Formats: sequence, structure tokens, C-alpha cells
Amino acid sequence: MSINITDFGCLADGKKVEKYLITNSNGVSVSVVTYGATLVSINAPDKNGNVADILVGFDKLEDMVEKTDYQGVVVGPYANRIGNSAFEIDGVKYNLVPNENVTTCLHSCGEFNTAVWDAEVTGENSVSFRYVSADGINGFPGTLDVAVKYTLTDENELKLEYDAVSDKKTVINLTNHAYFNLGGYNSGSILDHLIRINADKYTPVDKISIPTGEIATVENTPFDLLKATRVGDHIDDDFEQLVFTGGYDHNFCINDYDGSMKLAAEVTDPDSGRKLEVYTDLPGIQFYAGNFLKGVEGKNNFPMNKRSGFCLETQYYPDSPNQPAFPSCVFDAGEKYHTETIFKFL
Ligand code: GLA
Repeated sequence: MSINITDFGCLADGKKVEKYLITNSNGVSVSVVTYGATLVSINAPDKNGNVADILVGFDKLEDMVEKTDYQGVVVGPYANRIGNSAFEIDGVKYNLVPNENVTTCLHSCGEFNTAVWDAEVTGENSVSFRYVSADGINGFPGTLDVAVKYTLTDENELKLEYDAVSDKKTVINLTNHAYFNLGGYNSGSILDHLIRINADKYTPVDKISIPTGEIATVENTPFDLLKATRVGDHIDDDFEQLVFTGGYDHNFCINDYDGSMKLAAEVTDPDSGRKLEVYTDLPGIQFYAGNFLKGVEGKNNFPMNKRSGFCLETQYYPDSPNQPAFPSCVFDAGEKYHTETIFKFL
């Protein structure tokens, strides 16, 4: 086990950014930078022991600043979409800043992922990142004190622990927006990966990706991923939900949600033999198949083409602040938010 700290450059305002590299005893390594508490690399072996970086994203700070599509970042205070950029708590309406389709607030306008977080080594294999979000940024109520701790174990588990507390009653929904390609970031499409999502239900959306409020069965739809399924098998089906979003970009309702850790999803790349398991104590997981990637150049100037990476964003359901039937993401002033997600590499 080791942790190595290096400079990762400077922002235009002079703020310094550092990179923390955690390496375990199997040679698996993970690096995270203080800009956005962003995951920058995950090096993992394939079936023949060949190590590759399986995280699609950037290797340069200026690219992260200028070209991000949320690669590897921590999203908050509210991950994914809030419809009409507004919600009410106890009869008080909060108006947010829209940043998508004129009306929607997506990923909280990028607040958390463009901040420089304070970092602290918290163990031989863990680093904790902290950020305090001021009251009222983009319209969200409360001063929110947030910590995200990354731990890499010798079981090849990358554990993310999210802690937050606000001084006002507010909505909280934190995630990491890593894009994976289990063949390696430069190996092409993810359409041959096999995915299994432990969800009998999902939340359908309208034309601009806001949940309709329905919790629908996956039965007899392309969303039935209960058994390992090739990502490409149904992604382009003429099925309204997939047409609306241009491929998988939906929240799945993890079976038997009770706040304890569950295996939410697993993905295998038959070629490399690498496998990823995702565990979380949250109720939902967004399977986003990288439909909006448009060939922007990332690591080593390699283009991030459409569907060359997939995201599994553990979360409260999108637009929960406006959906009474969804698990509540409202936290009282002083109430502790704590959730965990594990990405296990096999
Ligand atoms: C999330 C959303 C997608 C897209 C990506 C970022 O996964 O669900 O629709 O906005 O973030 O491009």
C-alpha cells in the first residue's frame, strides 16, 4: 500500500491542484485530484495480468476545466436533474439556475466538480476530500459541509464514502460520474460489455429526461438487465424511452433498497476478462451509456467517442425533490448524510 502526492497544475486563478495516487498490494492503483475530487485513473489487470487504465477521461487539468462532461467528478449538491429548476421544502420554493434545455438544472450546474477540494491522507490506503458549499449557490439552500473519502483495499475495492451536513433543511444527492471502459480507456466501444443491473423497476422519463414519476417494471423491455446482457443488444431499439434519451441514460431502482449495501450492478468485458461490481446503500443507479460523448480528446489525446465509456452513478432518483413517490433526499439542518459506494475490480 502506498500514497503518492504530486502537483497536477494550477487553475487560471492560481489555485494549486494536487494528485493523490493510491496503490494497493496487487498493483491496482487509483488517482484522484483535488479539482472536483475527480477520479483521474484506475489501473487494473486483465485476465492475463496486463494492467490498463479503465477510466475514460482526462489526464490534464486544462482539459478537465475546458472540456468536461463530468468525467470522474464528484457531483453535488444534487446529482442528475431537477425538473423546472425548482423545488419546495416546507412550503418555501427554491429556484435553481437552469443549465440544460432552458428549464432543467443538471448536476447542480457543475458546482462541486469545478471546486478545488481540501485533501487529507486519512490512512495508508485512503484520502479524504472536503469542500464547503456556501448557502444559496445556484439557488440551493444551506451551507453544506461535504467530505468524500476514497479508499482502495487489497480486495481491489475502491470505496467512496460521502458525508455531508447542512445548516438548513435541504436536498442532498452526491455521486461520482466515472466513465469506465473495462478494455481500457483507448479500447473503443463498450457495446460488447455485458451488464447486469439488480433492478426490477426503473424510472421512465419525458422527452427532456425528467422522470414522469412512474416507477415502471423492466419486464419485457430493453431495461430488463436482470441477467447479463450485451450493452449493444437493445440500446438502439425503437423503444420510446431509449429514443428520448438516445440510448441508456436512466435511473434503475435497486431491488430491496433498505439503506444497507447491495450489489447494484456488474459489468464484464469478455475480451479483457475484467469485471466491475458496484455496491451501494443508495436506492438508485443511473446507467448512462456515454451516448453524448462526441469524440472530444481525452487522455493521450485519444478521442472519447460516443459509447466509448459507461457510467454507473449511484444516487437518489433524479428529480426526487419534486417526486413524492420517490425515496426522500431531503435532510434536516444538522442531519447527517452518509452513503457509501464500492467499485470492485475483478
Ligand atoms: C448524466 C446524465 C446524462 C448526461 C451525463 C453527462 O449521466 O444522466 O444525461 O447529462 O450525465 O453528459
